Amino acid sequence: MAAAREHFGSRLGFVLAAAGSAVGIGNLVAFPVAATKSGGGAFLLVYALFVFFICLPVMMAELSLGRRSDKDPVGAYRQLSGGSGPWRIPGWLALITPFMIAVFYLVVTVWILGYLVETLRGNLDQLATQAHFKQFINSPIVFLYLVIVMLGINGILALGVKDGIERAAKTLMPTLFVMLLGLVIFVLTRENAIVGIKYYLIPDFSQLDARVVNNAMAQAFFSLSLGMGIMITYGSYMKKQDSIPGSARAVAITDTLVAFTAGLLILPSIFHFNPQIDTTTLSDSSAGMIFLFLPKIFFALQESIGYFGASAFASAFFFLVLVAAITSLVSIIEVPLATLRDEGGMGRKKSIYTVAAIQLVLAIGCAMSFGMADWLTSFVQVAGKDTSFFALVELIFYSTILPLNGLLVCLFVIYKWKRANFDKELQQGDSGFAGSLFQRYVNFSLGTFIPLILLLVFIITVADKYF
Ligand code: PHE
Repeated sequence: MAAAREHFGSRLGFVLAAAGSAVGIGNLVAFPVAATKSGGGAFLLVYALFVFFICLPVMMAELSLGRRSDKDPVGAYRQLSGGSGPWRIPGWLALITPFMIAVFYLVVTVWILGYLVETLRGNLDQLATQAHFKQFINSPIVFLYLVIVMLGINGILALGVKDGIERAAKTLMPTLFVMLLGLVIFVLTRENAIVGIKYYLIPDFSQLDARVVNNAMAQAFFSLSLGMGIMITYGSYMKKQDSIPGSARAVAITDTLVAFTAGLLILPSIFHFNPQIDTTTLSDSSAGMIFLFLPKIFFALQESIGYFGASAFASAFFFLVLVAAITSLVSIIEVPLATLRDEGGMGRKKSIYTVAAIQLVLAIGCAMSFGMADWLTSFVQVAGKDTSFFALVELIFYSTILPLNGLLVCLFVIYKWKRANFDKELQQGDSGFAGSLFQRYVNFSLGTFIPLILLLVFIITVADKYF
């Protein structure tokens, strides 16, 4: 007989675990840069609207699917669609998407660990050189770091939902909040901090074009860990008496606050040394910011706080990003584990070995696609350009399939599972939600313009990246 399903021990535990999933590299780096380059406060406003009016209802839909079915995404779609048929497909997509996103996210996390170790060893001057990154990602030591990161994450997962995922979130998330605040207070007291803050916050509505709006939407969706089966899986570990709307709101607010606060760290740091910097020259890619640009800023900090102080600041930053990445990876790897347990009847340990073995091979492939192996470095041609294995995984699963998964969640919940069932699940544990204005909004929007917007994001991305 199958063991009873595990659950989060408390509502706070759930909120911290889900916020741990949501708060990731995207919040700490991609968000501040995107905001600065895309109209400051104007971008923040658009982003906040997307989070609360588009993403929050989708999160509630995903959590409801999980909690109602008590299953992983494959099982949830199977059970709530009443068996076979095309509605099984989104379940499988919600298995393979997190599986593959985890692979490339693992590689970036490995680099972060590598940079943390280097800063702790006092090698900040080397990290600040342009050539170092390429050299580092092509050195065999990344494989050692990969094994360490995987052992850490799977070690947490092996302990289960309550003793592993929830307990890790309960220690790591408060640590992250406190460190982030500490770093923010420090940079806000530096010279020129205010110039950075102005850049970050003063709205420039002239920057808002279709592309910026599309990016804000995609960023919000990714940042809340939607479309990856994570919230379906975590929903299945929620207690029946907890409020889905209330918990989802807490997760969305935490995630957005952390992203906003990260901007108060990154922008003043940049402007402290480069008060004249032209922000359009900042790298669009998070990796470019983390591994090429920011180390130079940290190194320059030595002029005001000495080499030791600058190294300590840089170590604290990389540690912060590492913690955020680890809690995200824990959540995303739990999805295939849940499927193997629920659908394949495996035990937790066996599911971990199986998933880890395949992910290790694929992650090694990704790590080798920056020059170590030529055939992986120019793996395929996309839009006439050589595309590495790493870039291909990111393009297909992160850029393309993610919004598609969100679209399918909306259509499934409203038109196949049906509104009445969805409503019932939302009211379970939250009687006040019944009949509220927000409930009516959620019901209406999920069946109409939210799937349309997600379809648009999907189309724009395909047109932009594949041709
Ligand atoms: N919300 C995460 C981020 O912003 C996205 C993510 C979740 C990535 C889970 C990987 C795993 O980085």
